[in-house]
Amino acid sequence: MTLLKLTTTSATLLGLAFAVSTLTAHAAELPPASTQTGVTYAGNIKAIFDHSCTKCHGGKKPKAHLKLDSLAGAMKGSKDGKVILPGDSAKSQMILAVSHATKDHHDWMPPLHNRAGIKPLTPEQIGLLRAWIDQGAK
Ligand code: HEC
Repeated sequence: MTLLKLTTTSATLLGLAFAVSTLTAHAAELPPASTQTGVTYAGNIKAIFDHSCTKCHGGKKPKAHLKLDSLAGAMKGSKDGKVILPGDSAKSQMILAVSHATKDHHDWMPPLHNRAGIKPLTPEQIGLLRAWIDQGAK
């Protein structure tokens, strides 16, 4: 009886621990926002986009009609709408895409194994993008 009770208790505890870990797993997928202040497109972000994104999201035929070679283009978004929500990086499609936090890996950016050989952003770069968006995406 005591043994049974003990087993039930540990099973409940295990279940709880599991529930907590799966709940937090989602938020943990996003690298934390940088604590840097005064982050701007011109000062900090354009260089990241130029290095990792504008080969596809620039020029005359940008992929998904999303242009990242200007602040106006980034704010305008894609054929499907806004990809940046100023003040809310955790819900911005762009952050979910670069953090590989969307269910469909076709949404991950830059695309995995792209022919141009462009590598995923680093957690530091994603943190800077998050800080920029959280600070209003200026
Ligand atoms: C090698 C080409 C390539 C590179 C590099 C690239 N993308 Fe993309 N991107 C695409 C394609 C293609 C799509 C359309 C995917 C689809 O609709 O399935 C897309 C779609 C997107 C979307 C989703 C648009 C929407 O609402 O459907 C976002 C956001 C995005 N890219 C951001 C970025 C960012 C940020 C970078 C750089 C860190 C980047 N991409 C680099 C090719 C690229």
